[in-house]
Amino acid sequence: MFYTLNKVTKVYQTESKEKWNPSELKEFISQNNLIAPHLDSSSQSSRRGYTNADLVYLGEQIGFLAKPNRPKVLSMFVTKGGVLKTSLTLNVARMAALHGIRTLVVGLDLQGDISNAIGYNQELDDEAFESAIERIDQTKGLADVFFKRCQVSDTIVKTDLPTLDLIPETPELVALEQGLIHRARRELWLKEQIIAPLQSQYDLFVIDCSPNWNQLITNALSASDILLSPLECKINNYRNFQMFRAFVSEFIEEMNLDLQHLYIPTRWTQSRKLSTEIKEWYLEQVEDCVPVAIRDSVVGEEATAMHLSVSEYDPGSTAAIEMNEALHWVWKRVAPEASKTAEQSPQTEAEA
Ligand SMILES: Nc1ncnc2c1ncn2[C@@H]1O[C@H](COP(=O)(O)OP(=O)(O)OP(=O)(O)O)[C@@H](O)[C@H]1O
Ligand SMILES: [Mg+2]
Repeated sequence: MFYTLNKVTKVYQTESKEKWNPSELKEFISQNNLIAPHLDSSSQSSRRGYTNADLVYLGEQIGFLAKPNRPKVLSMFVTKGGVLKTSLTLNVARMAALHGIRTLVVGLDLQGDISNAIGYNQELDDEAFESAIERIDQTKGLADVFFKRCQVSDTIVKTDLPTLDLIPETPELVALEQGLIHRARRELWLKEQIIAPLQSQYDLFVIDCSPNWNQLITNALSASDILLSPLECKINNYRNFQMFRAFVSEFIEEMNLDLQHLYIPTRWTQSRKLSTEIKEWYLEQVEDCVPVAIRDSVVGEEATAMHLSVSEYDPGSTAAIEMNEALHWVWKRVAPEASKTAEQSPQTEAEA
């Protein structure tokens, strides 16, 4: 991807913050000695701009997400399939990384969806069968750490963004899940053995969960500061939501966790009256609900298929601005200290 200055202003566009004006941004970049727009080395075009790896450095100065003052862990989980958990994980992680926030995505779903969404193994499709198999076999995962076959650092893979890494899912997660059952302090393995040793290297951990309650989920929740649960704007989700909310509250209480639970309405179909009514109900009745719904959109679906956040894929589109606005609200929990400063002095927020 290549972004002209005009496009950069749209990548960091939200509903609640005033958008950068391209000429003001140009001046800000030169005054602060930030990376100057350069030619696109991947094409013959004479236009100037930035790669998404460049945006990591720009985003830190001009974006809307602040680095938390200590490493934070966010889990994406709800007991319902296909409600955009993985797509949200991808968007949270890529947008955080595009703000210079050092982010590690941890895949805990056996389906391996977040590893695919991030684009891990993407190039394997073009490789010969045997070398592809060999590479897959070499991938180390959390189960290898659990069974003492490797170190945590051996499981981490790089992505196209310098601030975004991944611990990919491997099929042995099944064995890890089973192994955890028989372990003392089993809910704390992920927190103590994986997250704690990596705290100095990352500002944010984002954990993508499966929709099924198991030992990997209890580990994710026990390691987390924030649990983000998508709420599908569909009638069959209503009963599931009531059950889920009660179950999570009980778990938080039993485990004595310092975990904030946040909900986000997803899969809103604007043209359907019932879907809109359900969305409104969530926004009015559910405490701790992000006040922005993620609608069903082709742009959102295509972005995930292209391994990009919506804002990178189609900057300035309705879907992108909506996603950014949702992230802005999630960040009030991820980095509350930054939100407070911004609220106290609106001028600082507009200038930041
Ligand atoms: N805004 C969107 N509108 C419609 N579809 C979308 C949108 N964003 C992503 N999708 C698509 O919806 C499908 C389901 O999303 P996703 O995989 O994120 O759900 P999930 O909750 O993680 O599912 P699972 O429970 O299987 O893990 C995916 O094919 C994804 O590409
Ligand atoms: Mg998923």
